[in-house]
Amino acid sequence: MRELRGEVIPASARSRAAELARQLREHDYLYYVKDDPAISDAEYDGLRRELEALEQRHPGLISPQSPTQRVGAPRDAAFAPVSHRQPMLSLANCFSEAELDEFLGRLHRALGQVPELTAEPKFDGLAVSLVYRQGRLHSGATRGDGRVGEDVTANLRSMRSVPLQLRCETPPGLIEVRGEVVMPRAGFAALNDRLEAQGLKAFVNPRNAAAGALRQLDPQVTAQRPLRFFAYAIGAVEGWPQAPASPRTHQALMQLLAEWGFVVSDRIDRCVDRAGCVRYYTQIMEQRPELDFDIDGVVYKVNDLALREELGQVARAPRWAIAHKFPAQEAGTVLNAVEFQVGRTGALTPVARLQPVFVGGVTVSNATLHNMDEVRRKDIRIGDYVIVRRAGDVIPELVRVDLEKRPVTASCIELPASCPVCGAEVEQIEGEAIARCSASFRCPAQVKESLRHFASRRAMDIDGLGEKLIDVLVDSGALATAADIYRLGLETLVAMPRMAEKSALNLLQAIEGSKQTTLARFLFALGIREVGEVTAAQLAEDFGDLAALREADEERLKAVPDVGPIVAARIRHFFDDSANWNLLDELIELGVRWPKAQKRRQGGPLQDKLFVITGTLDGMSRDQAKALILEAGGRVSSALSGKTDFLLAGEKAGSKLQKAEKLGVAVLDQAAFMRMLESAS
Ligand code: IVH
Repeated sequence: MRELRGEVIPASARSRAAELARQLREHDYLYYVKDDPAISDAEYDGLRRELEALEQRHPGLISPQSPTQRVGAPRDAAFAPVSHRQPMLSLANCFSEAELDEFLGRLHRALGQVPELTAEPKFDGLAVSLVYRQGRLHSGATRGDGRVGEDVTANLRSMRSVPLQLRCETPPGLIEVRGEVVMPRAGFAALNDRLEAQGLKAFVNPRNAAAGALRQLDPQVTAQRPLRFFAYAIGAVEGWPQAPASPRTHQALMQLLAEWGFVVSDRIDRCVDRAGCVRYYTQIMEQRPELDFDIDGVVYKVNDLALREELGQVARAPRWAIAHKFPAQEAGTVLNAVEFQVGRTGALTPVARLQPVFVGGVTVSNATLHNMDEVRRKDIRIGDYVIVRRAGDVIPELVRVDLEKRPVTASCIELPASCPVCGAEVEQIEGEAIARCSASFRCPAQVKESLRHFASRRAMDIDGLGEKLIDVLVDSGALATAADIYRLGLETLVAMPRMAEKSALNLLQAIEGSKQTTLARFLFALGIREVGEVTAAQLAEDFGDLAALREADEERLKAVPDVGPIVAARIRHFFDDSANWNLLDELIELGVRWPKAQKRRQGGPLQDKLFVITGTLDGMSRDQAKALILEAGGRVSSALSGKTDFLLAGEKAGSKLQKAEKLGVAVLDQAAFMRMLESAS
């Protein structure tokens, strides 16, 4: 008879199941994390089958943490977006010892000394964040754009190196554990063999294979892919327990994560000085070919976690860490032809069509030549024997020509007089390296590129509206402006080649979903020249509202942090064009909307005063202080400069204090700041 839920489970069954789960967890840990199994596969299977049988007999015994519950049911829709509690930052790069010196110099200037650093491999995989509540795996997400990733919990759960439960008596109430999912080289090779044997397409490199595995809709498939999770950082933490004490250094933190059951790199070293860093780098580079998995450099990090707080971050990377990348890999090949691509702003980019060559793990057949100045400077001719380079994810580059191998037939590269896409005249502005098609939105290439940018992940994030579909939609006349995206109907979509009704419906849903956006994303999506993601966010924060931004003159725009005269002029130019006004109105009419950003008060007591906040404030987070400043009409930036009016300095303010003194910036302690707010209001 089947046992009903709620029926009493014999104590003996309960304790045996708990014991089996404990043993299986321990063996999983030894096998997948420690790489040091203690029992045979057959013994392991025996334990597992016994637990499965018990759970089947008494379903009340099943918990999400049970080792039998790693692999769940397949899903049929895309992954839901999740906001990271703390943004997942990227890392600044350096490629030479000179650039490493610059990093060390920056640390020295900020802290008055070069602090102790750690060095570790830079994994070439996919960054993910795992959230543990009360020590149990709650959810897991990809990095995405750093703020919002995709919920891939079910797939992460299926990886044995991801603990379902922390090996710790008193876990924090909540902790985000960050790290990289990689596919070991051996597993990658075996997987590709398997795929090819089935007549399927092999993956280009282990990173792509890992990404593919994590984005599987069926966790069963992910479970069969040889993935490994390496922990290297933490994000948000709530409720750190009495014991263990909260770690003070990166090394102590990594040690703790290892104790909790995570795989951490066994090559985290301390480097006391520059020579130590260089030694570590050289050593790892030599060992690189023998490593189990791909790495693309090393990461140096400030070891002392309190100093990290003090250093903070710039744009989207912390000041306390840097990636020292391995030199790009190079190979020689023949330049067959040069074609000109037309970008979003009409810029003509010469692209080299190459004899395919294998470099840095992939086959390269195109490389960017940037612009005509570059072509002339490198004296590149069609037919030349050229050296191409590939560094990580970066688009392959043509480094130089091997002049000794130049054939007599080599021919010069000419800038076309008319746009290769629409035939309009090509303009070259005096003193600018870039030549542009003069047709602006009448050129299909510019339209396509703008739409691609508009729909891209970090802009309006319309999943499913990719390059190929945009091409056919524009060519068929269904799309001419961004507003047309919101007018697309099912009929138009299914009439496109290879577009099934199901994907068309999904796309329409994604388009509908994209209407609810943020002002920052929307501004970025517009593709105003010189307005990247960071500037868009600054503008959104400063103006809070599109109406005010539309009207702002260049002087007002220059008051926004990071906006100089060129950017201000570009923004003005964009809003002076009535076609753009119409587009904005149409988009809003079609339902594109955003929550009103926290707006700076106009005419507030701190009107236009630029603040930088440093150190720890009493009874108030930096975000709260920032909100107070914005409410009073002030502005907040992370970088201290001559433009700064006040440095609000809390406890342990550190190096910014000295810098403020040097720059002659007024320093406020918290009490003075509060008095200023009170007396001003
Ligand atoms: S620390 C911001 N450590 O590199 C600090 N990142 O290029 C948090 N990465 O997004 C990251 N190996 O995906 C850190 N040992 C390592 C890493 C590492 C690879 C990735 C990470 C990051 C990217 C930036």
